[in-house]
Amino acid sequence: MGLLIVIDGPAGAGKSTVARRVAQHFGLPVLDTGAIYRTLALAARERGIAWSDEAGLVALAAGLPIRFEAATEAGGPRVLYDGRDVTQAIRTPEISEGSSQVSALPAVRASLLEIQRRLGRDGCVAEGRDLGTVVFPDAPHKFFLTASDAVRAARRQAELEGAALADVLRDLNRRDERDRSRATAPMARAEDAVLVDSSDLDADAVVAAIVDAVTSRLPGP
Ligand code: DC
Repeated sequence: MGLLIVIDGPAGAGKSTVARRVAQHFGLPVLDTGAIYRTLALAARERGIAWSDEAGLVALAAGLPIRFEAATEAGGPRVLYDGRDVTQAIRTPEISEGSSQVSALPAVRASLLEIQRRLGRDGCVAEGRDLGTVVFPDAPHKFFLTASDAVRAARRQAELEGAALADVLRDLNRRDERDRSRATAPMARAEDAVLVDSSDLDADAVVAAIVDAVTSRLPGP
């Protein structure tokens, strides 16, 4: 098992940016677990499977042909579903909502556990909601990244061209509430996770805090 660092937290807290840069620092791949739920929601939509159809979603999740490609000079990182680049298609507000809905279903979560563990087993920086609590409970380096509602909504708005701040905030709050209150593997800080509030920190400062915390706990030379 290589170095495993997990970063959980709500939408818009800056997990993706921070995970990518921490991964670069340590020469690790990123495991974006939200992209797995998003890809499942997209695949279901394309096949006419409802986001509430637990059995249909579980069948679709079995052996989900998803692949992650690391960033190269040509661009990226990319998410491939069945060989097709879905990197952009899974980022729409509609698929954000769908991914949160499918992720609330216990059997769907169970069926995606293995794929997450397999993708992360050689070491990575993994980001999601339940990685420190459920997917990788033994991970030696756990972080829970938060930020105020206003900061998270502003960050998400910057990614979604033309979206109104009030709409972005409403969608974020609805999704967080569902992610936090679902019965199975809700978004939660693991007891042994370091809480990082990024409301008043830029990405450089958050990355530095995480890199320092990990480095200080690595075995010496
Ligand atoms: O991190 P994200 O916004 O791309 O995640 C999309 C949705 O997927 C999120 O609203 C809840 C779900 N998710 C989850 O339940 N568990 C994870 N480990 C990651 C994401």
